[in-house]
Order: sequence, then structure tokens, then C-alpha cells
Amino acid sequence: MEQWSSKLAFILAAAGSAIGLGAIWKFPYVAGTSGGGIFLLIFILFTVLVGLPLLLGELIIGRSTQKDAIQSYKQIAPNSAWHLIGCLGIVTCFILLSFYSVVGGWIVIYIFKGITGGLTGLTEQQYSDLFGQSISNPSLTVFAQFIFLLITIFVVSKGISNGIEKANKFMMPALFVIFLILIIRSVTLDGAMEGITFFLKPEISNVTSETILYAMGQSFFALSVGVSVMVTYSSYLSKNENLPQSAISIVFLSVLVALLSGLAIFPAVFSFGLSPDAGPVLLFNVLPTVFGQMPFGILFLVAFLLLFLFATLTSAFSLLEIVVAPVAKGNEAKRKKYSWIFGLCIFIVGIPSALSFGIWNHITIFDKSIFDAADFLVSNILLPVGALLISIFVPLKISKEALFAELLHGSSISRKIFVMWYILLKYLAPIVIIFVFLDVLGII
Ligand code: PHE
Repeated sequence: MEQWSSKLAFILAAAGSAIGLGAIWKFPYVAGTSGGGIFLLIFILFTVLVGLPLLLGELIIGRSTQKDAIQSYKQIAPNSAWHLIGCLGIVTCFILLSFYSVVGGWIVIYIFKGITGGLTGLTEQQYSDLFGQSISNPSLTVFAQFIFLLITIFVVSKGISNGIEKANKFMMPALFVIFLILIIRSVTLDGAMEGITFFLKPEISNVTSETILYAMGQSFFALSVGVSVMVTYSSYLSKNENLPQSAISIVFLSVLVALLSGLAIFPAVFSFGLSPDAGPVLLFNVLPTVFGQMPFGILFLVAFLLLFLFATLTSAFSLLEIVVAPVAKGNEAKRKKYSWIFGLCIFIVGIPSALSFGIWNHITIFDKSIFDAADFLVSNILLPVGALLISIFVPLKISKEALFAELLHGSSISRKIFVMWYILLKYLAPIVIIFVFLDVLGII
């Protein structure tokens, strides 16, 4: 049985899955289109009150069964349809990685441009034009997406617990440091205060049903919950790990990175007179200009992009891992074969998303581009549905005493805290998720 080499290795891998495009790229642009400060507040509430309890629920499923995303549900609830939660998670991750890899490809393109000198000395407008041109170039984006997926396939086909564990230990702290440098530059730009206010000050009048739906989807997306990725990862975990502490660390790191990203981006957006609701291009339009205003800016920019790529890859590994693990079943040859098969299928499915920023930008699904529609389907429908099912499954199929006993392996959680978690998972999570859906559908 494959196992993480240490507790830190697990936290880093799980945090690596959580921290990626969600916190760094998606969070600021969704906050920018969905009301700023109030979005941040609702996002944090969802993350702590719903996301964290769910995450712990997934960790329990995985560690108690030591099985993948499908077998674990089968073991807990044999001869029932509950394992479809795992199947739903796998389908969700498949679609998620198909558009995730498009943005991964954008990072690859920018690293290349940064190294070859294409990202120096431009004005804000020129930077946004350059980015617009790059992502509308069909062969370039599809090629870059392919490169991103090749790296992902390669690592997953070898079994993820080896190499990335070690790299993670260095990359994560480095990412924090570079974010801090970036924030210092960003908040000291002229007119930065307006951006800080936009990001941190909640304006209740900005709340709509969509704000709440997006904040919920974002909180699940950024924690990797609702799709049984955390079930799969914790299935490689030994009995003496402290699950509540791991869950809290993962949530803490993920929220911290989202905050850092917002603080790096919004002051600069307002200082440069750009619009916070630019959408998926926001980060790529803004950051090169901020780095451009620093001594040795290009070095910092390339370093940032490399760390950003790494963070994105560690999430992508988890997305492909969960698709591959149930069919590989611990067999190395099968792992290799299915990593390639699924990875290439994901690439093909993702091509329309890549093209939707260029030659296919006229194609819309429910008024959204192909990319935005895939993202909406995953973030705001499939992830919450998966989360809802898990919040029903855990208290229904695992007895309260068994849950408490599982948490007590490796932790000394008090009964009181346990009961609080139990209530949040069993009552608050499903009620809130259903409420948000009904609200968006206009039923309540
Ligand atoms: N949490 C990852 C990110 O924010 C995305 C992800 C979602 C990964 C769901 C795995 C499962 O980038």
C-alpha cells in the first residue's frame, strides 16, 4: 500500500491540491466581478463553516477505508448507490482539469515569454493587449495546454507521492515570500488605497444571489472538496495522523493564499485605473505591470510564474490522480497506461475551452463562453452537488461513535468540538447548499 512518507508530506500534498488556480487566479477575478469585500466575507464564512467540516468528512472517509474515491463509499455502504458520489467526483475532476489545463498553459506561455524577454518594458495597455493576443492564438494556447498536461500525466503515471513531496517543501514557502514582496509593491503604488478598500470593505448592497452562489462554489473549488480528491489523498494516510489539525492547516493556508493574491492584485488594479471585473484575464493583465515597477522586476516575475505553475501543477496532479486511482488499483502498469489515456482524453475535451478565448469566442452556452460554461458547471453546480451528497452521506452511513473514534486516532479532539463539527456537517452544510440553489433558481 502506497503511503505518504510523513505527516508533513500529506499536509503539503493536500494543501498543494487545494492551493492552485483557485486561490491565486480565480479568487481575485471572481471577487472582482462579484462585489469585492462582501464576496471575501461570504467566501470566508463558507470556507470555515461549510468547507472545513466537509473537508474533515472527506478525510475521515479516506483514512478509515484506505480506499479510492469509489471503493471507499462501497466499503462504508455496500450494495447501495452511494459510490456514485465518487463517480460524480471523478467526472467533475475530469471536466475541471480540461479547463484548468488551459490556464496552466497560459502560465507556461508567460514563463516562456518572460525568459525570452517578451515581458519587459511595456505599458499597462500593451501588457493586456499582449495577453489578449497570446490566448487568442489557437495553436499556441492548445500547444501550451498540451505541455501542461504532459507534465501532469508524467508525474501521475509515476505515482505522486515520490517527487512532489520534496519539491513542495521548498516551493510553498517560496511562493509566500514572493507574494509578500509583490504585496509590498502593490500597496505602495499611488491610489492603492482604493483597491484595498474594494477588496476588504464589505458593501452589503453588492450582494446578489449570484454573489452567494459564486462564493460557495469558490470556497469548495479552493479547498478541493466535494469531488473526493481529499478522500483519495487521505486514503494513503496512516492511522496516527491528526485529521482535525490537518484540515485546519489546509483551510488556513488556502484562505491565506487567497488573501495574499487579492492584496497583490486589487491595489494595483485601482492604481493603474484598470477594471476589477476583467474576468479570467485579470491576474495576467495586472501582475506584469506591477513587477515592471520593481527593480529586477523581470526576475521576480519569472520566479513568481514558476512558483505559480508549480502550485497549479500540484492541484492538477490531484485532479488526474483521482481519475486514475480507481482503475489503476495499486497496479503500476495500469497506473501508467490510464494516466496517459485519461490525460489525453482530458486534453481533447479541453481544446474547445482553450479556443473559446480566440477563434471560438462567438460560441456561447447559456450566454457564457465555452470556458466560462465549463467553469460554471463545475464550480457552481457539480462541486456543490458533490458536497451536498457527502454532507448527507457521512452522518447517515457512519455512526456518530465511529466518526468520533476515527477522529480520536491521532488527535485529542474534545467531545464538544466534535459535536460542533457534527452539527455543521449534518445540518448546516446541506441546508445552506440547498438554500443557495433554491435562491438562485428563484424558488425562495
Ligand atoms: N483546489 C484547486 C485549486 O484551487 C482546484 C481543485 C478543485 C483541485 C477540486 C482538486 C479538486 O486550484
